Amino acid sequence: MNEFDSERISAILEREGYLKTGQQENAGLIVLNTCSVRLKAEDRLFGHIGNLKALKVKNPGLIICIGGCTAQSLKEKLTDTFPYIDIVFGTGNIEKLPQLIKAKALSAKSICETSENQEEIKELVDFKRSFPFKAFIPVIIGCDNYCSYCIVPYVRGHETSIKPAIVIDSIKKLAADGVCEVMLLGQNVNSYGHDFNQCGAADTVENINSFSKLLNAIAVIEGIKRIRFMTSHPKDLTEDIINAINDNSNIMGHIHLPLQAGSDKILKKMNRKYTSKEYGELFYKIKEKIPHCAVTTDIIVGFPGEEEEDFSKTLELVKTLRFNRAFTFIYSSRRGTAAETFDDPVPIVEKKKWFKQLLDTQNNISLAENTKMTGKIFKALVESESTKKIGQLEGRLENNTIVNFEGPNQLIGRFIDLEISQAHSFYLSGKTI
Ligand code: 5AD
Ligand code: SF4
Repeated sequence: MNEFDSERISAILEREGYLKTGQQENAGLIVLNTCSVRLKAEDRLFGHIGNLKALKVKNPGLIICIGGCTAQSLKEKLTDTFPYIDIVFGTGNIEKLPQLIKAKALSAKSICETSENQEEIKELVDFKRSFPFKAFIPVIIGCDNYCSYCIVPYVRGHETSIKPAIVIDSIKKLAADGVCEVMLLGQNVNSYGHDFNQCGAADTVENINSFSKLLNAIAVIEGIKRIRFMTSHPKDLTEDIINAINDNSNIMGHIHLPLQAGSDKILKKMNRKYTSKEYGELFYKIKEKIPHCAVTTDIIVGFPGEEEEDFSKTLELVKTLRFNRAFTFIYSSRRGTAAETFDDPVPIVEKKKWFKQLLDTQNNISLAENTKMTGKIFKALVESESTKKIGQLEGRLENNTIVNFEGPNQLIGRFIDLEISQAHSFYLSGKTI
């Protein structure tokens, strides 16, 4: 979602006549788009803001803007701590940025615009994207789940689905423009349309008021070869969604399904609204219906009150289910969340030990799962030059795994068949055939 917002911010500024510069020393305006989901991202932000002070001293005309969810959450506290920040703007005030820049030119004081009313997104296509052949499409903004550790509902607001007409028309325009892959975004895409139901299904195209209906409607748009989506909350991943993936060959077999913890005691304290047994049943239902479907997950280690016994349950479940990939995080307390007040007696060294154990276990599983793909041929969309191996290209498989291979740059944006020659924990090596 932050990447999408960054693309939007760039587009809005380019429309105003700004040009991108590769070097921040040359910039007349710097925008930092921030994330507050975990403490680490925020700590790094403060380092970045600190470094900008020297630039501002050298060039007092430089305009420094801080957007995104840390801006939404800290508001004036940011300008109080770093008075050389010119503009703070929230997650729902992106469209206003040019106006704020003009207002700042007339005022010596910093400006803070973080009003809670999220702007309605009416246009999803009218800007240059990072890749000409694939696009992010937010379908639902905000979250109503209030997991006890999570800051998102406080900084992104209530769940608001983008009208199906806007989503579908945007994707049609993108397809006509050469986009063949769309990534549907939302904190919980599975809740798509629930807010329409509450207000009487008004203004929906062909009564599209659920995520499965939206998926089925997008799947028939000509030119759209790959549909991806994230993130799915296990409590809302219903059978109709699994069927939609199974019924449409252009909906990719990959579900990002955050587990968060394997202990029912911890899941309850997290307010996740499912048990480890229910999660396991859903996992096997997916695998049974769509055997090639990759399932990836997020796991938090060291949640307040987690004991050795709880952690062991997470580790056991990870060993049993065998995710293709897991993103693991040590719990960090976030302001305003329910868990902020929970007792957290386990020392950080213990949490780091558990974290390392989980990471090593999952890395071995990912490697073993990837090794099953060696010697086989898969279709890849070639995305870019490789970030890992100089002189190589990077392709993405249906199950979202990246393959590095040698080939000419003209392949970028095209589909090719790749034979997998070697597996690694986080990517594959392959060759063209
Ligand atoms: N501490 C650690 N990890 C967190 N996440 C969200 N909030 C926290 C937190 N306070 C993780 C969850 C979520 C992912 C995006 O970030 O695992 O799924
Ligand atoms: Fe945060 Fe839970 Fe919402 Fe995900 S579902 S964004 S973890 S509150």
